[in-house]
Amino acid sequence: MKEYIYVSKPAMPPLEEFLPYLESIWESQILSNGGVFNDRLEKDLCSYLGVEHISLFSSGTTALIAAINSFDLDGEVITTPFSFVATSHAIKWNNLDPVFVDINKDTLNISPEKIEQAITDKTTAILAVHCYGNPCDVEAISHIAQKYKLKVIYDAAHAFGVEDLSGSVLKYGDASVLSFHATKVFSTIEGGAVVCKSLEEKQGLDRFKNFGFSSHSTVDVLGLNGKMSEVNAAFGILQLKYLDEYILKRKNIFDFYMKELSSIESLEFIQYKSGTNFNYSYFPILIGENFPLNCEDLLVYLQQRNVMCRRYFHPLISDFDVYKTVLVSKPNFVNAQKAAEEILCLPIYPDLTKNNVARIVEMIRGLL
Ligand SMILES: Cc1ncc(COP(=O)(O)O)c(C=O)c1O
Repeated sequence: MKEYIYVSKPAMPPLEEFLPYLESIWESQILSNGGVFNDRLEKDLCSYLGVEHISLFSSGTTALIAAINSFDLDGEVITTPFSFVATSHAIKWNNLDPVFVDINKDTLNISPEKIEQAITDKTTAILAVHCYGNPCDVEAISHIAQKYKLKVIYDAAHAFGVEDLSGSVLKYGDASVLSFHATKVFSTIEGGAVVCKSLEEKQGLDRFKNFGFSSHSTVDVLGLNGKMSEVNAAFGILQLKYLDEYILKRKNIFDFYMKELSSIESLEFIQYKSGTNFNYSYFPILIGENFPLNCEDLLVYLQQRNVMCRRYFHPLISDFDVYKTVLVSKPNFVNAQKAAEEILCLPIYPDLTKNNVARIVEMIRGLL
């Protein structure tokens, strides 16, 4: 292949449809600090996602920091080492201690059993991740949270639009956090949001992202600048119009990969929760011992053919230097370590052609 194929590529709505939004922003000269497009995107997202309260943010990371902050926690927060580093960074930015526990070997989501084993009298919350948009064991997590009176925050950066039989997965826990980064299923270029339970909580988040101002002359919390700009919000409104089409294209690619690769015995696939409407955000494969190349060598082999995959998540968060120093004991996350060694995300995005997906499959099958 001459062109590079990246693991992800943002879907771009038609430029001519974006220009009127820009004209309106130029006309109003309102670029940030709320505005009509921020208001409209919050309403549109509530209705698209089937949730009641959303506060937009400048990124998933600022949204995570704000969500954790909103519960006034102290002590330890139990979380997964198999995630993007922003998950536990948000705990640290709140001056809390992340406690990493192992994941389930089939779903790669945090293990409820391990959560329960790690609870101490300092534990105040659980920060779980719906990895690759595959919902966590929300029932078990909720049961533990009730038993030990813990808050539950879901990092739902991968789970935009994911639904189970009772509707949006974003309704679980005390809050869910979305990322709208350019690589995500739904994007505002950079951006994120907190899905919360009440208007009061939303208003608190709105203050937090505006430096903590509760009026022009009053600041009563240590907020930050996490506001979304009007240009980003307008991009989101337009993206939403095309989102079902984008997700369908992703589904076709996902199904094709599955059909062509699932019979290869030396590859493994995560176990997707049944009864779920997925968003097909990623196509992760696990490279088993009997596959002719290990994960790193397969990554390089595909790179040499201009196919840029990603070892997502590798290394584990707990293996980054910045976290090594915060851990009290040497961790032993058997399942997470194995997953980090074996995981490779293949390219998946709406504009990826069937021809190119077929060639990626051929490259992999050609090694057998
Ligand atoms: C699981 C997870 N959490 C948090 C984030 C951070 O989101 P953002 O890049 O919008 O700050 C990401 C981003 O990739 C992510 O994958």
